[in-house]
Amino acid sequence: MENRIYIFMGVSGCGKTTIGKLFAETLGAKFYDGDTFHPESNIEKMAAGIPLTDDDRYNWLVDINKQARELFSSGQSAVFACSALKEAYRVLVAQQIGDAVVWIYLKGDVDTIHLRLKNRKGHFMSPELLQSQFDILEEPDSAIYIDTALDTNTIIQTIVKKLTKSEFGLVGLGVMGKSLARNFAGKGISLSLYNRFIKGSEEQIAEKSISEYPELHSAVGFEDLKSFAESLERPRKIFLMIKAGEETDTFIDELVPYLNNGDVIIDGGNSYYGDTQRRILFLKLKGIHFIGTGVSGGEQGALTGPSIMPSGPAEAYKLVERYLTLIAAKDKSGDPCCTYIGIDGSGHFVKMIHNGIEYAEMQLIAEVYVYLRYAVKMQPPQIAAVFTEWDKSELNSYLLGITAALLVKKEGDAWLIDLILDKAGNKGTGNWATIAASELGQPATLITSALLARYVSTIKENIRVNGEQATEHNLETISLPEIRDAYRLARIVNHQQGFMLIDEASKKYSWDLNLAEIARIWTNGCIIRSAFMEELVLVLKKDSNIFENATVLKQLKIAKSGLKMFAVSALQYDLSIPSHLAALDYLNVLMGNYATANIIQAQRDYFGAHTYQKIGDSTGKYYHTEW
Ligand code: 6PG
Repeated sequence: MENRIYIFMGVSGCGKTTIGKLFAETLGAKFYDGDTFHPESNIEKMAAGIPLTDDDRYNWLVDINKQARELFSSGQSAVFACSALKEAYRVLVAQQIGDAVVWIYLKGDVDTIHLRLKNRKGHFMSPELLQSQFDILEEPDSAIYIDTALDTNTIIQTIVKKLTKSEFGLVGLGVMGKSLARNFAGKGISLSLYNRFIKGSEEQIAEKSISEYPELHSAVGFEDLKSFAESLERPRKIFLMIKAGEETDTFIDELVPYLNNGDVIIDGGNSYYGDTQRRILFLKLKGIHFIGTGVSGGEQGALTGPSIMPSGPAEAYKLVERYLTLIAAKDKSGDPCCTYIGIDGSGHFVKMIHNGIEYAEMQLIAEVYVYLRYAVKMQPPQIAAVFTEWDKSELNSYLLGITAALLVKKEGDAWLIDLILDKAGNKGTGNWATIAASELGQPATLITSALLARYVSTIKENIRVNGEQATEHNLETISLPEIRDAYRLARIVNHQQGFMLIDEASKKYSWDLNLAEIARIWTNGCIIRSAFMEELVLVLKKDSNIFENATVLKQLKIAKSGLKMFAVSALQYDLSIPSHLAALDYLNVLMGNYATANIIQAQRDYFGAHTYQKIGDSTGKYYHTEW
């Protein structure tokens, strides 16, 4: 171990001499009591109850520093006890050896320490001086914080633990971060955990998580970044699970000064892929690797095995591969649902499309529900039974399963679903996916329709239009097998559009993405895992456009009439089914003979001489007509 100067600091009576001595014994290092460096004049003042001034303290601090420097330069480690109450004092004590100094702050409240001091015999410090010490105390930004109320053994153990290097660091102990930390620790990875300190709302978060979960007991918690960074083996591997956007940039700026060449930051938040690309380039200039990774599976997935979609420099991925694959879900062959997606922000792009597909899958289920509930007039448990039945078939999916479960939840006498406000939220990934599709000229109509359905739901409260409801007496509903076909087909379209979008981005940005491998890591752990995703692993090995696959094509033809009947019937009941309609419309264009685009081209040429191409003209020539 490199030699270090450990300085126990805190107000008089905090226990720095006792603990410092014990710690020195544990290390086999020399112990120095800072009080013995005071000149006689200072001791006299203190004994007379007169607080020391900064001038009084100057020579004292310089002498301690001189001693510490001598020891350090002779290659020794040593332990000091020194109150060092102000930042300026600490700067003096650590001058020229700053990097080698480890500050350990014994923190306690006035009352406890006052009581201790009163009981202490033969010490020159009068207890009345204590308040004056608290008055000038500036708590250190960078130190190992120890609660003096703990027993001596626990204190020593905690310090040793905090000084032992961890393999992996995790930042942000929100719902997802905490679950991921437990997952890592459960796989035997030694962890340093950091959570920011916000007075009154986020205090001791890491320590609290560590004591709450047995699997985290060997992890070490931090609230200051310097000590956190110092606690990690190099090259450091630091996983961020914090809010995407500006907060991530701000945090990276704060962290970077404590990092070294070759360290790796992994961003596991739902970051925008463009931000990830920018961060990779920015950090590369500083010699730091950046990996942006999609993580899917919610709280439970994070704990038991999420699907993980990392991208960035391949050499950086190699450094973290072991850790990510260890915590990932496993596919049916036992391989991790984690794969190197590609360069740049491709991992976050793929996660963004995952979320887009997720939006549409959720919306499709909701639309089937609305039809079964308000056209077929089934009650929630009956609908749950239908979904459970389907879930046992090739329609099996995580989202269908959870919907069946949530439909039978009651609150009092009511179905909970009937008490939930009909207004959908979102955190932005569906919006980004829609924008990306549009930028790439890709018709991701299901993702878009599902996103817009959420938006429409938010304006409904304010803009309710009173209108005629359908007269239902002469309407007939369609059969369950037909509804099933409609849902099955719309899902196929959703996946076809999602993978086409990924493929287009891969070509446009030269990412060389492996669609079958992406489908494979989505077969478990993530929110859109399903039996169909299993099928797609094989299909995508051959065809990036799944409509080119003979088996898929056959299903399209069989199920199309079910989708049409569902759409017509639901519309007659005045129900909103935008994503099924989007699927049907998409198929009508791709499978039908009649298009609208010839009219659009003629109109464009009419008013703007934008030209058009002609059917059967293999030269690809553009024509203009003087209309
Ligand atoms: C996942 C989810 C998750 C997402 C939530 C909320 O893969 O685990 O996609 O990352 O944040 O589903 O998304 P919205 O708030 O936008 O619905």
